[in-house]
Parts: sequence; structure tokens; C-alpha cells
Amino acid sequence: MERWSINDSAKIYNLDNWGADLFSINKKGNVCVHPSPTSKHSIDLRALIDDLIKRKIKPPILLRFMDVLQGRIASINRVFKNAIQENDYPARYQTFYPVKVNQQRQVVEAIAQYGKRYNIGLEVGSKPELVIGISFATGNGIPIICNGYKDTEYIETVLYATKIGYDITIVVEKMFELEKIIAISKKTGIMPKLGIRVKLSSKGTGKWATSGGEDAKFGLRMSEIIAAIGMLEEHGLIDCVKLLHFHIGSQITKIDKIKSALIEGTRIYTEMKKLGVGIEYVDIGGGLGVDYDGSKSSHFSSVNYSIEEYANDVIYQIKNICEDAGVECPNIISESGRATVAHYSVLVTNVLDTNTSNTMPDFEEMLNSAEKLAPTVKKLLDIYKSIDRYSLREDYHDTVQLIQEAVSLFNLGYLTLNDRAIAEWLYSKILRKINSIVEKIKPIPEELQNFHLSLRQTYFANFSLFQSIPDSWAIDQLFPIVPIQRLNQRPDVMASIADITCDSDGEITSFVGEQGRTKFLPLHKIRKGESYFIGFFLIGAYQEILGDMHNLFGDTNAVHVTFNKRTGYQIDTVINGDATWESLKYVQYKGPEILKHVRHNLEKNVALRKVSIEESSHFLELLDKTLLGYTYLGE
Ligand SMILES: Cc1ncc(COP(=O)(O)O)c(C=O)c1O
Repeated sequence: MERWSINDSAKIYNLDNWGADLFSINKKGNVCVHPSPTSKHSIDLRALIDDLIKRKIKPPILLRFMDVLQGRIASINRVFKNAIQENDYPARYQTFYPVKVNQQRQVVEAIAQYGKRYNIGLEVGSKPELVIGISFATGNGIPIICNGYKDTEYIETVLYATKIGYDITIVVEKMFELEKIIAISKKTGIMPKLGIRVKLSSKGTGKWATSGGEDAKFGLRMSEIIAAIGMLEEHGLIDCVKLLHFHIGSQITKIDKIKSALIEGTRIYTEMKKLGVGIEYVDIGGGLGVDYDGSKSSHFSSVNYSIEEYANDVIYQIKNICEDAGVECPNIISESGRATVAHYSVLVTNVLDTNTSNTMPDFEEMLNSAEKLAPTVKKLLDIYKSIDRYSLREDYHDTVQLIQEAVSLFNLGYLTLNDRAIAEWLYSKILRKINSIVEKIKPIPEELQNFHLSLRQTYFANFSLFQSIPDSWAIDQLFPIVPIQRLNQRPDVMASIADITCDSDGEITSFVGEQGRTKFLPLHKIRKGESYFIGFFLIGAYQEILGDMHNLFGDTNAVHVTFNKRTGYQIDTVINGDATWESLKYVQYKGPEILKHVRHNLEKNVALRKVSIEESSHFLELLDKTLLGYTYLGE
């Protein structure tokens, strides 16, 4: 057999293409994380997980690499700085982190703290997010942009925040908001800092294309913009308009869609400037995508451009149109969320079991007395013995037909359970043999190309798809999944990944492969007693907050890790995942009440001598331990 190297592994998981130079494989065959693309330092993920388990932190564990987060902020700001220099752009660039993408306190804290040198602001879209924004801005002077629908309370809070010194821009999403803002401004005498969101006819691509275009939920149409300017002039508030905003959707996969939006948005800016509106900022929204599958394509889990190209196009297009119109260039804001936080978190969990044939009885001996086999089973045996590359196609068809026949005969009572088990065993052996032949044939006959699916084995992993990577289930988004060890060994199993929820949807059957999307994840046969871990990568954006409590599997343990030149890594924070009592609390159950109720019933049974005192107290102890323990599976 040909030798297998870590480069072969990097290839089959397409790691170098989606990893953004932040993930690699070390000589031991373990996945490593680097703090930044240029750094030689790395953390061995497998060694880290082993150390965490020694610290009694159980999988699934969400690893948050704060240096990676900082590195992404630095990269985005660096590419814009370069683009500004290259294009001689006469104004500034600023990122506003959209809090909704990941609201975790430590994440926003890190962004606010590290982002200071880049003057990063926060974008908020609801009252709770506004409170987050205000809490971080206090004392730090972080600017805030308020998007999303707003009620009177929201608007009043923003206006008072403006009065007491916050740099806070309220973006008009709808005409009724403008009426409210004008009324509250008049009542309080506070002059707001205003932005106007426009509804572009340009649309994004992929799953979030409806955020742009005429039917978009947010933004003012051109006629409404004219009306808004009129209203603001009438009430003496036109000088309050400082920002023009548009957003055509998240994960925009094609650069030409971004260019169209930039052209249309900047044209609106120049026209509004000519009408005398003193806009200083053009906010191009989010949409800078992440290449989840590394295919550099316009597939919705990928993008056909780099962040350098994105920044260059933004700066170039805006400058070009402003110069043509003879209007001064605006300061540029982007609300890049996904591209900032996707890379920093990795979920690692253990494989609990597989449906491999390890536990299948060996029927080899029975084949010596083939005359005792049922005719259908005997035919399968003959195929197994004789199949070769010349009979492949015909034998494959016959095998599929014979296994169906075996099931029908069993249902009609003509086949014993033992015969059916041997048929099943022979079927999987034939498929394996076909596979080993097919791998050597080029080109593979069409009907055999998909037969691999019947060889796919299920690996059961200790996590909830619905809690940890909901977009994989909801919108079929691809996330890179890679075993974090043994990558110097050839993977010998083609697998799908099933989670531990009681839901048949809780299975991943689409993976990032060498040539794009594949239906198998290459994994290793797990040795007896081996702990085998898989990592889910690029899950820092949206997944942590969109996750739900299906089957009451709660938040996973989360560990914040930073790089340390001397010791390799340092654990900064450990956030315990939900205990069972906490998950139950979300649905209005109370642990102590449950214990009290069960104890009461047990005492009744103890009095009736149906249960011993020891059994009763042991059961209560177990229940107590379950309530206090992790919602995921242990040993
Ligand atoms: C107004 C607004 N800004 C920014 C974003 C963040 O987008 P992304 O995560 O694609 O950068 C969104 C998300 O859809 C949004 O609606």
C-alpha cells in the first residue's frame, strides 16, 4: 500500500484552502491552530484536548482562540489600509462589529479591547444589543450604529445617550421610524446623529439574497429618501444625517454582486450630497464572506474573492464614482461579522461509537457448509467468490437485487433470521470488494459512482447538531470537519456523522472534500479503547447564538485559549456548559422540586416495603448527580 503523509490528509480535507493559514497538521499527525497566518507558533489541538480532559473538562468542548479573533480584526483592517494607500483614497475606513453575529460577552469584550487601535465600533440591531453596545461604549468611547426596527423606548434611549456624550448613530430603516425620531427629538430637544438605510435594487447571492433588492425587509426606496429629506428639512434636522447605509445580505458569494451594490449605493450617496445632505460616512453593511469549503467558488459555502480583492473593490469603486460625480469621498464603514469571528472557534468532541462491522459475527465458518444456505444467500456467496473487474457491473446489479429479495423472503417467512444476517454480511463484503476494484478503474462506470453511499458508515459523535452547528441542519451550510489526530495515517472508513439527539435530521452527510462537497468524511477505524476526536471548524459566526435546545442538550463547555510563547498555550477562561438542571429551567422545571416530588413517592414505596431505604437513597443520589451534571454523554 502507498505511504500516507500529512500532506495527503491536508488534501482530502481541503485544509489548506479553507484554513486561511490558521490551521495546519503537525508531524505527529494532529491538527494545529496558529494565532495568525504568519505565526510559527501553534497549539496542538489533540494535546490541548487531552490536557483539558485531565482538568476534568468534558467534551464536547468549544475552543475559542482569542488570538485568532484578534488576527482576523487585524487582517481586515490591514487589507483596507493597504487598499486606501494603493488607491490614494482621501478618507478613512472603520469596522463596526455587528453584535448579532456572536454576542458572547468575552467575544465583544475582546473585539472592543483589541479593536481600539482600529477605532472599531459596534453595530446593534435590537434593544438587548443596544444595552450591550452602551455597556461597552461607556468609558471606552466606542461608536455605535443602531440598525433594526425601533420603538419609542429604543429611540428615546439612543437620543439620551447622544445627549450625554455617546457617539451613537440611529439608522432610519422605515419611514414610521423617522416620524417617531422627529417627534422624540422635538419633545426632548435632542439632536440625533442620523443614518439612512437605502433599499438597493442590487441583490446579493446565495441564502441571504433577499436582504437586498426591491423586496428587502429594510431600507427606504428612492421616493422615500426624497420624502425623508423633505421631512428632515422641514423640521430642521437635515444636518443630523451623517451616514448612508446599505446591506445586501450575508455571505455574498460573488464579487460582481458586491461591485453592483457599491456602484448603486455610491451613486445614491453622490446624489444625496448634491441635494445638500451632509453625509460623512458610507456604511456598506456586512456580506464579506468566508470560504467554508475552500473551493474559492460562488457556491454558497464559499466565495469567489479574497478579502484583499473585497477591500480593493470597495475603495476603488467608491473613489471612482465620487470622482466622476465631483463629490468628496466618504469615510467608509463595513459591518463585517462573519469574516471577523468565523475562524476563532472550533468545537471538538469525541466519537462514541460507530456502526462498523466490528461487532458483526463472523460467518466465515458457515460458508464451509454452503449447501445448507438458502438459495438467495448461496447466490450472494457465489458473487462474492467470483466477482472481478470484468463482471463488476453485472454482479453489482445482481447483488442489489438479491439483497432486496432476501428481505422479501424473510418478510414472507421463507428465510430465517440467521440466513438474513448472512445475506447482510455477504452484501457488505461484496460492496467492500467492489470498492477495492472500483478504486483502480478509470473511468468509474456511472452507476458505480454512487454506490459508495452504501459503504458509508455512521460515526456517532457526542454533540447536538442543533445546538452547535444549526446552519448545517437549517440551510445545509458546509463547515469543515476533520479528525484532529492520526492524520499521518490513511483514513480507512467513509463516514457520516450522527449527533446524539433523537432526531434523524441530526446527521451530517455533506462534507468539505478535495473537490468540493462530498458525501463522506474519511475517518479512521477506531481502535479498541482509543479516544478519537473530531473538530468542527469555522463555527464562530452565528452558530453559537442560533443554536437551540433540541432534546435539552444545552450549551457546551467553552474554553478560552491564548498562545503563550513559553508554555505553548494558556487557559484564560472556562465557561461550564449547561448542567441538566439549567436546561430544565429553560422549560420551567425546577431541580429541587423534582427531587422533592420523587423523594415523596419513594418514601411511600419504602413504607409499603416495595423499595429498600438503600435503593431509595441510591436512586436519589443518581438523580441529584444527573441534575448537576453535563447534558452531554460521559463514559
Ligand atoms: C445590517 C447588517 N449588518 C451586518 C451584518 C453582518 O453580515 P456578515 O456577517 O455577513 O458580515 C448583517 C447580517 O446579515 C446585517 O443584517
